[in-house]
Amino acid sequence: MKTGGEMAGKIISLKGVTKTYKADGVSFDAVRGVDLDIIEGERISIMGPSGSGKSTLMHMVGLLDVPTKGHIYINGEDVSKKSENELAYIRGKTIGFVFQSFYLVPSLNALENVALPMMFYRIEKEEREKRAKEILKEFGIGEKLANYPNQLSGGQRQRVAIARSLANDPKIILADEPTGNLDSKSGEEVLKVFDDLHQREGRTLVTVTHERYVAERAERIVHIRDGLIEKIEKVDENKRETVRGRGLVK
Ligand SMILES: Nc1ncnc2c1ncn2[C@@H]1O[C@H](COP(=O)(O)OP(=O)(O)O)[C@@H](O)[C@H]1O
Ligand SMILES: [Mg+2]
Repeated sequence: MKTGGEMAGKIISLKGVTKTYKADGVSFDAVRGVDLDIIEGERISIMGPSGSGKSTLMHMVGLLDVPTKGHIYINGEDVSKKSENELAYIRGKTIGFVFQSFYLVPSLNALENVALPMMFYRIEKEEREKRAKEILKEFGIGEKLANYPNQLSGGQRQRVAIARSLANDPKIILADEPTGNLDSKSGEEVLKVFDDLHQREGRTLVTVTHERYVAERAERIVHIRDGLIEKIEKVDENKRETVRGRGLVK
């Protein structure tokens, strides 16, 4: 891991990142040469119209997909040319991903869902369950450990999904419209969890959202249009506090 020089303090760095999709002989650039640096501990929101390339970009940063062109550096390390296995390993250790539609395993209960990613790193069963229990308790769902996803509310499912993303204690949390499927009360509970992960635990947080009042909880808002960064907006600190205090009430 490089620590000095150009990469100092940057936990994520994108250089000329492009994603070209090919379908039926037609190619389409969903992301077109994006440059972006994210500092360790920073909170970033990504906004942009539907189809502007937000999810495509997030999937590449989350090492779930690879750029067609350009480079992605995580902790100063170029991950663009890594093998599938190496990517899975780095992803599991470094990045927690939270999706709009939760993607919990329906046949596993809350505790098992959260413990699952730890198996990959050969953590003992007892330790896995202990850690999963701790996180779920902290998120206010300690009573629901044995519930299956279909026995949980939307907000509870998303909190389980966030707990799962934390299983291996990643420094980076990426969330693609995490409150998109939630009513405003559950959405607010989920946002409080994200506030904590950033403010109390100092994790780097990147969240895609359609809602301005959600986006304003971050330090910077990256506006994406047609696969390009249109502008980067700084949110001032007072504004961030006000938005958090007010909650999801418009
Ligand atoms: N697997 C894919 N194959 C072909 N085109 C895709 C694929 N995924 C996304 N796209 C296209 O890329 C563009 C960006 O999609 P996406 O990143 O999902 O946008 P957003 O998340 O901003 O709504 C859209 O035009 C979409 O249709
Ligand atoms: Mg999307």
